[in-house]
Amino acid sequence: MKTQVAIIGGGPSGLLLGQLLSKQGISNIILERMTGEYVLGRIRAGILEQGFADLVREAGVSERMDAEGIVHEGFELAFNEQSTYIDVKNLTGGDTVLCYGQVEITADLMEARDAAELETYYEAKDVELHDVNTESPSATFTQNGETYRLECDYIAGCDGFHGVSRPTIPAELRTEHEKVYPFGWLGVLSETPPASKELIYSKSDRGFALVSMRSETRSRYYIQVPLTDNVEDWSDDAFWDELRKRLPPKAADNLVTGPSIEKSIAPLRSFVCEPMQYGRLFLVGDAAHIVPPTGAKGLNLAASDVATLYKIMTRVYKEGDASCVSQYSDIALRRVWNGERFSWWMTNMMHKFDASETSDSELGNVTFSRFMASELSYYTGSESGKKVIAEQYVGLPYEDLKP
Ligand code: APR
Ligand code: PHB
Repeated sequence: MKTQVAIIGGGPSGLLLGQLLSKQGISNIILERMTGEYVLGRIRAGILEQGFADLVREAGVSERMDAEGIVHEGFELAFNEQSTYIDVKNLTGGDTVLCYGQVEITADLMEARDAAELETYYEAKDVELHDVNTESPSATFTQNGETYRLECDYIAGCDGFHGVSRPTIPAELRTEHEKVYPFGWLGVLSETPPASKELIYSKSDRGFALVSMRSETRSRYYIQVPLTDNVEDWSDDAFWDELRKRLPPKAADNLVTGPSIEKSIAPLRSFVCEPMQYGRLFLVGDAAHIVPPTGAKGLNLAASDVATLYKIMTRVYKEGDASCVSQYSDIALRRVWNGERFSWWMTNMMHKFDASETSDSELGNVTFSRFMASELSYYTGSESGKKVIAEQYVGLPYEDLKP
């Protein structure tokens, strides 16, 4: 088999990239280790920056997103009884974010790919990448006991944190930066109206809580829990009780409880791999970086990688200029580091640190907590502080390629 761009991984990054490339007439084949149903079973955040939404529009897959997505003009940052509204739209001169679940985006992209009869190999096992540092890379894999070889010009490694692409870059050529936080998020999805129209990031003396949603009748909530907790430790009632105690009074009063449809604990991690390319292999999305979910940057950083690689591939194939390929890692990493820093900062500022670990090992816990409380009241207490938060929440502009 032969294609121009082999895409490893059929999550949101791989699917969005494939759709955009196809629009430009650039051939691509996706190799996905799992089934489509499995990919759609993963529940994740759903706050889309304007840049992401525009990219989905450019890919021609925005119909349902535009009809069903909920525009959010701001969000609340709460600290115990106090709550500050970050009026993102006014503070940024008109930008907003769109609340639309990642599962929905993924489903829309899959459907569009099927409709366009673009090739995807699901349950592609044992994927291995070959000769990525030459002009003729390839990927081998097995499916239903058969072995295949896919020859290509370039490989997009969109295979998430546990994929094969990142380890294909020789260990001595890559640097991995990692921080694991001393707590996790217990998330609950329920068929109940959300406690608030917009998101609430709430810090309390009991720990962090988040009010989010999937629709006007479906809520998504999270609370910070110790890493030693198991999902089985948390009955629905215990979850609702704890959530209520951590929300600002108005949201606590508005909270409508019901049975959980999904309940899980996710660890929080910051991770970046440098560089994000090796020869003709490019790392995209979770394959190269992970952020803690505070600030909802995970999917959005994946989208900016896709945007950069899409521009590069378009220039390569439309203008015959392959020299721009070397720009990928630097451009992608600049935005990635900014998103990493913002997510790390929001995580530090909004969570309760009472384990021995803080982000700065020279500070004691109490000092660290005081600094973070001061940081929160400083930023929420002034227009310029709120503007700094708003501007990053909607996402920095995508960088153009150099001429
Ligand atoms: N071979 C083929 N496919 C693989 C392999 C492999 N060896 N390893 C992993 N995959 C597939 C996974 O099954 C998954 O479907 O790659 C896909 C990666 O998808 P995601 O993990 O969702 O990553 P990505 O597409 O980059 O999505 C961006 O950012 O913060 C997050 O929540 C956000 O999941 C979202 C992600
Ligand atoms: C979510 O809706 O799942 C969500 C929203 C915002 C975040 C994280 C998760 O910062």
